[in-house]
Amino acid sequence: MKTALVTGANKGIGREVARQLAAKGFYVFVGARNRKAGGKAADEIGKHGGKAAFLELDVSDESSVTAASREFSKLADHLDVLVNNAGIIVDGDDGILKISDELLRETLETNTLGALRVTRAFASLLAKSKAPRVINVSSGGGQLTGGADGWAPGYCISKTALNGVTSQLAAALPKFAVNSVCPGWVRTDMGGSNATRSVKEGADTIVWLAADAPQSLTGKFLRDRKEIPW
Ligand SMILES: NC(=O)c1ccc[n+]([C@@H]2O[C@H](COP(=O)([O-])OP(=O)(O)OC[C@H]3O[C@@H](n4cnc5c(N)ncnc54)[C@H](OP(=O)(O)O)[C@@H]3O)[C@@H](O)[C@H]2O)c1
Repeated sequence: MKTALVTGANKGIGREVARQLAAKGFYVFVGARNRKAGGKAADEIGKHGGKAAFLELDVSDESSVTAASREFSKLADHLDVLVNNAGIIVDGDDGILKISDELLRETLETNTLGALRVTRAFASLLAKSKAPRVINVSSGGGQLTGGADGWAPGYCISKTALNGVTSQLAAALPKFAVNSVCPGWVRTDMGGSNATRSVKEGADTIVWLAADAPQSLTGKFLRDRKEIPW
């Protein structure tokens, strides 16, 4: 049975990705730092006939990530798909010259280092898959093409750096498919209620990369199943 781990899968885009992957027959690990919400999301998948397990995982905490990989190994012997979805926005309305080092550090810790940390901890389990895939949920806000518009500088820098992590991982792991995705502007707690896309639409490219895209597609940044510039 194919296995998938989705981080930040207790709500929003991550929960929808977990739901869709379970519906496609994956054994899904619902990674979440919040036990109650993570357990509930895994139970919901089970109620609809999918196979899911909650995996306690705070991507910003090395010991939590190590414990999660140990816990995972008790339940499965390999990982086919890792979706690094967990993310935060700490920015308020301040521009780049006003944000604190602390704000930037906190954002990088989760959005950038978190994805790298989880990939590192699960790399040997992924290497046991016939076709390992890593999907980093990034943002158009991290795109350098066209220049920045000044919105949420800490968040945008973390996603630019996450795209750098994607490119480096793709080079380091030639057997793996490693890509970044921009889900578009999605109605979640982060995206807000005015966003243009449903979670179903936001999850589409992520799920496609996880289950259906060619394994040779790697080291790219995608939106709507198409490559976009970094
Ligand atoms: N929504 C959009 O318009 C949009 C656009 C572009 C990119 N994205 C990206 O899409 C991803 C999902 O965002 P979303 O819109 O679904 O946001 P969301 O509803 O706020 O969900 C974010 C998820 O990440 C989790 N998370 C945050 N820090 C974590 C940590 N240290 N360890 C584990 N989990 C953690 C949250 O858990 P808690 O519930 O415990 O906080 C939550 O499950 C993010 O990477 C975001 O940057 C979103």
